[in-house]
Amino acid sequence: MKILVTGGAGFIGSHTVVELINAGHEPVVIDNLSNASAESLNRVKKITGKDVTFYKADIRDGAALSDILDKEKVDACIHFAGLKAVGESVAKPWEYYDNNIAGTLTLVDALKKHGAKNIIFSSSATVYGDPAFVPITEECPKGSCTNPYGWTKSMLEQILSDIQKADPSWNVILLRYFNPIGAHKSGLIGENPNGIPNNLMPYITQVAVGKREKLTVFGNDYDTHDGTGVRDYIHVVDLAKGHVLALKKIEENAGLKIYNLGTGVGYSVLDIVKNFEEATGVKIPYVIGERRPGDIATCYASAKKAEEELGWKAEYGIKEMCEDSWRFQKNNPAGY
Ligand code: NAD
Ligand code: UFG
Repeated sequence: MKILVTGGAGFIGSHTVVELINAGHEPVVIDNLSNASAESLNRVKKITGKDVTFYKADIRDGAALSDILDKEKVDACIHFAGLKAVGESVAKPWEYYDNNIAGTLTLVDALKKHGAKNIIFSSSATVYGDPAFVPITEECPKGSCTNPYGWTKSMLEQILSDIQKADPSWNVILLRYFNPIGAHKSGLIGENPNGIPNNLMPYITQVAVGKREKLTVFGNDYDTHDGTGVRDYIHVVDLAKGHVLALKKIEENAGLKIYNLGTGVGYSVLDIVKNFEEATGVKIPYVIGERRPGDIATCYASAKKAEEELGWKAEYGIKEMCEDSWRFQKNNPAGY
């Protein structure tokens, strides 16, 4: 299939472009490069040997989208484009609602006008809030989000579901990611955050490479096995493959589908530090700090539904996630 990949120059997008090419699909990337470098797509070419069609465009620009879709005649869209920094979203709610929600509405309108009523949307475990139970199944009620970023994901799930309900010729696949880490085995593409990383693994790799002095562990008084927060870390290549398999549901005209993409295993912050040190041989100095506002104690998936319905299962364990995150950081100490 010919697939419009919004945000395809970013972390998860670039890995998905590789897997789409590997599976024989034809990706067409649009990205405004607000949080990415086009270099990621040059690296994709090195990995796959294929040129990637790329348009520098903003999903809020309906005229640009229309021109691109007139030309490219895509079958479906995998929609990664969006702002994703939780803390920043608290300070800049308008920018988050504008970029993520207005952007998605403009995108959906353009897809509809071009007869490509098929979308796979990057949602997040954040929609479960402080989950009612773990492991979290797709039936777990959605919770209250603690920041505008989370609300954009929750609201966009609702918006896309309503659109599909009103017009069942849409296929809408909502993929709820848990915590993506790792990088492509080549060490050529990976996570490349701007400024001080918000997320645990890029912070750890920047400590390891000497860019940051030490990790601050946000609280060790949670109700978990060692008091630090527990999350379901998933290798980005596994996550990328989940998108390729989700295209099957579009081919089957499955309508609205929701899947968790996680491993089903929870690791604490200190488990991650220990696994990283064992996998790489690099020591990570850390201090225990205050809890981070809005954080929850425990979040991990039941990934059974994706296994049963998509035939998808995470293949990589925590050791490879740590090794691969480190390889990209070590090979690219200053990013792309
Ligand atoms: P990323 O920032 O690396 O990728 C997002 C890409 O979208 C970037 O390349 C950015 O330049 C682009 N973009 C942003 N706004 C745009 C716009 N208006 N028009 C065109 N391009 C735009 O982030 P990622 O980690 O690859 O995340 C991809 C998606 O997955 C996002 O929607 C994110 O919210 C979601 N998600 C990420 C995580 C995570 O922990 N990484 C977890 C759950 C969900
Ligand atoms: N943590 C630290 N120190 C740090 C960074 C993080 O101790 O410097 C801890 C956090 O407190 C948490 C764990 O590491 O316990 C993971 O934190 P991340 O920021 O890496 O990830 P979150 O689970 O908070 O959130 C991430 C994304 C969200 C997404 C969610 C999906 O940032 O956008 O995963 O589960 F919704």
